[in-house]
Parts: sequence; C-alpha cells; structure tokens
Amino acid sequence: MRIRIPATTANIGPGFDSFGMALQLYNEVEITAIPEGLVITADGDGCQHVPLDEKNIVYQAMRYVFYKAGKMLPGLKIHIHNEVPITRGLGSSATAIVGGVLAANRLLGDRFDKQTLLEFATALEGHPDNVSAALLGGFVVSGQYGQTVVYKRFDVPKQLQCVVAVPEFQLSTSASRNVLPATVEFRHAVFNVKSAGLIVAAFASQDLTLLQHAMRDYLHEPYRMKLIPGMDKAVQLARHAGALGVALSGAGPSILALCDTQIDSVAESLQAGLQEAGTDCKIYVLQPDLEGARILSESPVSSSRNLHMLSRMD
Ligand code: HSE
Repeated sequence: MRIRIPATTANIGPGFDSFGMALQLYNEVEITAIPEGLVITADGDGCQHVPLDEKNIVYQAMRYVFYKAGKMLPGLKIHIHNEVPITRGLGSSATAIVGGVLAANRLLGDRFDKQTLLEFATALEGHPDNVSAALLGGFVVSGQYGQTVVYKRFDVPKQLQCVVAVPEFQLSTSASRNVLPATVEFRHAVFNVKSAGLIVAAFASQDLTLLQHAMRDYLHEPYRMKLIPGMDKAVQLARHAGALGVALSGAGPSILALCDTQIDSVAESLQAGLQEAGTDCKIYVLQPDLEGARILSESPVSSSRNLHMLSRMD
C-alpha cells in the first residue's frame, strides 16, 4: 500500500507541544508485507540520513502497533520517498510515525480507531502536536492527559499562505529541547496563555487578523533563537514586510511566516535576515493541507494474502 503524509509545523508561536498545522508538502511510504525479512529503501530529500534497518522510524512504528495488537509483524518491504526536509522542524519524524502506524493498522484489518492511532503516534513521538496535524490535516490543538490525547481540529482559511525558510543546517529536536529552561517567569506564562488563546480563536473563527498579536512566544523561542543565527532579524524583517505572524517552526531551525498577502517580500525578508548572519536557507511557499495522512492505494497482495500470515504472538 502507498501512504501519503503531510509535513507539519508545530507550536505556531505560543502553542508549545500543543498546536500543529499540516502543510502541502508530502512524504510517501510504500509498504508490502513479504514472507520474511526487512527490506528498506529510501529516496528524495535527505534520503542518505534515513536508517535502512530496524532503527527506521516507519518500521519501529509498525512494530509498536503490531505489539499493541498482540500480533507478530510480518516480513516487510518499505520504500520511503521524502519531500519533507529532515530535522528542520517540519515534522519529518511525524510523517514516518504516522505512515508506519497507519500501514500497520491497515495490515491488521483496521483494528484500531483514529483516537487510538493518535495515542500510539503520540507515545512514539513524545508530544502530540506534529502527529495530530499529520494524521488529521488542518490546524489541530491537542494535549496529552495521561495516556489520553484530547484534540480539536479546525479547517484553515484558504487564503492562508505559509512561507517557510528552511536553513541549510539540521537541528535535532532533542538538541533544541535541551536549551529550554526548567522554569519560566509567571508574566511570561501569562503572556503565552493570552497569545495561545488568540491563536485558537483565530482558527476557530477564521479571523486571521488575530494572528498579528498572537504569534509571539516566551516559553521556547527566546532560548532556541540562539541556535539559529539571524532568526531574530529574519522575524523582525518578515513582520515588517507584512507577515501576519512569524514563529519558529516546531523545534526549528525552520522559520514559519503566515501571510495572506506580500508573500514575495516576506520570503525575501526571511532570507535576507538569515543571510545577514551567514545562514543559508531554502524558501518554501506552502498551502495548508486539510486532508491529513491518506492511504493512496492498497496492494492486493499485502492486504488480503498477507493478512493470513499474521499469527498471534505468544
Ligand atoms: N513541540 C515540539 C518542540 C515540536 O517544540 O520541541 C518538535 O517536534
């Protein structure tokens, strides 16, 4: 079967570990159950960094779902086609997790519902923001309460354009989380409460003008900014050029500017701000994805014959 999973931008400023939006940039995974063994291939953006053994995230996600179902994982042929830049804050690991979880569930005859799949994906990723948006599309606010993931998905207004500056260097989520403080000042927490509330209001009411005040953050961006030379200038220039709001995309290093007009000047400003500090970047102009991850085609061989190969684990 072939599955298409969108890139995602998480946090959107103040919604740390909670807000995510899917983007029209996709990774695909093609999965076939085979009698035995594991064959993984990859092509596309950053494919040289994709592990081709049991460390592969698609494989690990599939193994987790089969474990939860109490079944033995069959042999697998997995091909990964990457369009989403790796380790840049655009949810590439979430695409692999969601792809693996969906593929495994289909091989298991759709045993688990969407809620459970989202909880599996969140357990694997560690936070629900990217995986929720990758699975459901649109703008998603989500939170984990114990094992339960509570979420609400919203459509995104069609005129919203996402200008994303993707620096040429990689920044792992763990490195970017390591710079975060153990505590924050009360006034900064209060600032984030009001801004996060406004972001949800902006998407719930489809009133993009609210983003102008809302996309500012005190919980993570001030600490992460130091890891991205030129980010402060790029943000400042892009706001001035007419972006509705500018924020770090996920854990970075990509920078997201949400716009309804002035796309070209916002893109130039992001690039110029980063370049002033010597940071080269690629610019992507992306529309929000409203569909979420999708099984594009089934392989008759994998869906019927191999189901009979699945046996219970002891
Ligand atoms: N919310 C996460 C973070 C997204 O900012 O660390 C990274 O995947």
